[in-house]
Amino acid sequence: MLNKEIEVMFNKVEENQLKEKPDQDKLGFGVHFTDHMFVMHWNRELGWHKAEICPYQNFSLDPAAMVFHYGQEIFEGLKAYRAENDQILLFRPQDNLERMNQSALRMCMPRLPVEGVLKAMKALVYLDRAWVPDNAGATLYIRPTMIATEPALGLRPSEEYIFFIIMSPVGAYYAEGFNPVKIYVEDSYVRAVPGGVGEAKTGGNYAASVKALTEAQEKGYTQVLWLDAVERKYIEEVGTSNIFLVIGDEIITPPLKGTILPGITRDSVLKLAQDHGYKTIERAVTIDEVVQASETGDLKEIFSTGTAAVISPVGELSYQDKVIRINNGKSGELSTFFFNELQALQRGEREDNHNWLVRVG
Ligand code: COI
Repeated sequence: MLNKEIEVMFNKVEENQLKEKPDQDKLGFGVHFTDHMFVMHWNRELGWHKAEICPYQNFSLDPAAMVFHYGQEIFEGLKAYRAENDQILLFRPQDNLERMNQSALRMCMPRLPVEGVLKAMKALVYLDRAWVPDNAGATLYIRPTMIATEPALGLRPSEEYIFFIIMSPVGAYYAEGFNPVKIYVEDSYVRAVPGGVGEAKTGGNYAASVKALTEAQEKGYTQVLWLDAVERKYIEEVGTSNIFLVIGDEIITPPLKGTILPGITRDSVLKLAQDHGYKTIERAVTIDEVVQASETGDLKEIFSTGTAAVISPVGELSYQDKVIRINNGKSGELSTFFFNELQALQRGEREDNHNWLVRVG
């Protein structure tokens, strides 16, 4: 079933109905959408069926659709890049789909046939390839999503689902671009509890984070850094991304223990660091250790990693009554290295030693 071929129907937008493309210098993040989308349906009797690439359009859903009431929803984020000779490349798309299947397991949703969905995704990107920006730093963001659609109010897994893929040409996620951001260390609200859904990419995790984000933004910070829910002591992740700290000569990131998202950019940075001979370690880090390392001068850099955020250097952390300046508020050597290296790799300008790239078309 998981390697089942998906028969995809095509219903293309008429040439004269294609949308006008936005200005590549003013893309923002996730505000423009391409001409087409992919949709497929699931029910217990037919499994995945009715797969179609069709014009980007609204859904018509019953107001009792379970996603509206109990939030049974999962999603992914990945990007398409324009390389030399207009070759379009996807970065680690199978890993996103495999992670989506992990999220599906946790949220009692049906698994996706990874190879079939990848084929449909490639067909969709190819059809809308004119939307893949060629500006440096701009990419086509791809958002696979699954929602529970059965109209029913009893609490249990839905018996019907829609899986869809929409795409959006995007610029930098943060207004700061690659410039360092200021982060508020959140010690009151928490993101995820042990045994909860922190490692699943499900909308509820993000909805629950918005209050802390809004309050941090009101205080002048771009994002929050979450601490663990039990002791409010261990660093977990930043609002939209994983976190790395450079302390002494070690590149450290918190371990995957169920409460943080297993980031694909996180994994790529760990592998790139190892490829280039850097010492990496996945271990628990307390916020007190960060404060102390800052006081002794051992804290060299902090950066966050994510598909949307790419690599985002942290210039300042605010924790209780302390303000920690990192690398004098400037982008550090390693943040810059990983940012450049990752981007070059994603655009096909480096040897793809890990077989991370998938060609479209
Ligand atoms: C991503 O980085 O792809 C995400 O899903 C984070 C989201 C808040 C934009």
